[in-house]
Amino acid sequence: MRIAIDGPSGAGKSYLAKAIAAHYGFVHVDTGALYRALGLYALRSGLTKEGIAEICDDLDKIEVSLMFAKEGQRVLLCGEDVTDLIRTPEISMYASAVSAVPAVRAFLLETQRSIARTHSVVMDGRDIGTVILPDAEVKIFLVADDRARAARRLAELEAKGVKTSLEDVLADMAKRDENDRTRATAPAVAAEDAVLLDNSGLSREQTVAAAIKIIEEKRTT
Ligand code: DC
Repeated sequence: MRIAIDGPSGAGKSYLAKAIAAHYGFVHVDTGALYRALGLYALRSGLTKEGIAEICDDLDKIEVSLMFAKEGQRVLLCGEDVTDLIRTPEISMYASAVSAVPAVRAFLLETQRSIARTHSVVMDGRDIGTVILPDAEVKIFLVADDRARAARRLAELEAKGVKTSLEDVLADMAKRDENDRTRATAPAVAAEDAVLLDNSGLSREQTVAAAIKIIEEKRTT
């Protein structure tokens, strides 16, 4: 069973994917972490966002992999567990920049597909329903209005001790979504057969319930 959850940043994909995975006993795969790990690599290598394509010179020596622990997914960059280092606003922008490089997307393709070959998965990202798992049994495109998304992202960052403002979060989010939606390779758009779920006015519990309803309807048809 493969469940694809795509959508813009801050829509609540990870929370939803985690809750659905727990409900069904499937593995939750947060694919954004792979791009974030490569964003961290680019930052550490001194690349600028404008010169990000230079990361291609290093792809044959970079290893990125996911591990699935009971508490959730861990991401390894060349053997180093970088899970807790990749959630900053700076890495978000680097991840978005690196994700527009076609060779990077090709590099991460098999890592993502191979997990879905061996496990039932709930995979969240931007191109899961369109590119990574085009035959997924269920595809959900999760959206929410800008203010709702920015307020949630701000709360997440504040909980991690990152100091920022709603205006800065809104501006970063708009820029990143624009990058992700308009890139030439695998733009972050809904698959034709995805079900659109707008959770602007929904609580987390209501969003999970709505998604499970969509999944159950798909499973029985
Ligand atoms: O979901 P996230 O915010 O952790 O993702 C970080 C960046 O990675 C996002 O700006 C776009 C990119 N990404 C992607 O292009 N494709 C995916 N499947 C997942 C993330």
